[in-house]
Amino acid sequence: MRDLLSVDDLDRAAIDDLLDLGDDFVEVLGRDVPKVPALRGKTVGLMFYEPSTRTRLSFDRAAKALSADVLTFTPGGSSVSKGESLKDTALTLKAMGPHLMVVRHKATGAPWRVRDWTGLPVVNAGDGAHQHPTQALLDLLTLRRHFGKVDGLRVAIVGDIRHSRVARSLAGSLHTMGASVTLVAPSTLLPIDVDSWEVDSAAGIDEVLGEVDVVYLLRIQTERGGGEVFPSVAEYVSRFGLTRRRADQLPADTVVMHPGPMNRGVEIDPQVADGPRALVTDQVSNGIAVRMAVLFRLLTSEVPE
Ligand code: NCD
Repeated sequence: MRDLLSVDDLDRAAIDDLLDLGDDFVEVLGRDVPKVPALRGKTVGLMFYEPSTRTRLSFDRAAKALSADVLTFTPGGSSVSKGESLKDTALTLKAMGPHLMVVRHKATGAPWRVRDWTGLPVVNAGDGAHQHPTQALLDLLTLRRHFGKVDGLRVAIVGDIRHSRVARSLAGSLHTMGASVTLVAPSTLLPIDVDSWEVDSAAGIDEVLGEVDVVYLLRIQTERGGGEVFPSVAEYVSRFGLTRRRADQLPADTVVMHPGPMNRGVEIDPQVADGPRALVTDQVSNGIAVRMAVLFRLLTSEVPE
């Protein structure tokens, strides 16, 4: 593996390998000194053109836990305001010597362009509504650690699927790993190419409550137009929100996940978000371990210590 641009790059064996390595790094992160020297002397470039809390911080934490140095670029306060292009910014960063670039950008395909311009290995940290492969991997790691397996799980992905790179990456990789996926969304928020997805769909959350192991909730992506295609927030909540009443109808072992950022009171009730079924903070912690696994695989062929 040279880059990680899309979950389409990963077959089942490659995902299993990264999740196994992710388990090893969860153990490393639990040590008194949560750091290994595996990537000493390496530098990881982070180019984040879109807002990010979890993804940027966890790539930073992952690189440092492997003893790599980090070079972080965000457009605020940079020469982007003076008209500098993505290409020139990428080449400028490259001239500072990183061994790999992590790229988030609102344009679909931007990480592929950065790879072609710089010749460096690239990890896609989210490109438009297209792909977000490390989010899918951290969700798979969270599921595997919780249930002991991913194969056979029944997962409902609920919300603004059309504009979600998280849904696109997760649905594809869940299928690869043998889980079944039901998309739950207003028809206006289903992806245009949904017929080519290996999924079922349902028109309301009540249809799936009794039959799923995982309810995976998504934010309405207002910055991509997601808020303009249903009449009101109240109407959305009435058909798609995971309210307390609905959460109480879920089977005892069903878990609730969300990639963040959550809009409490819209897709998820605040008490459900903080309740015992929610794996949201596990997802964040596992995100560090799985990103360590990805950086390790792309930057070395050795086994971890
Ligand atoms: C998501 C993203 O940016 O794609 N967040 C994340 O990376 N954890 C989802 C979102 O913004 O809704």
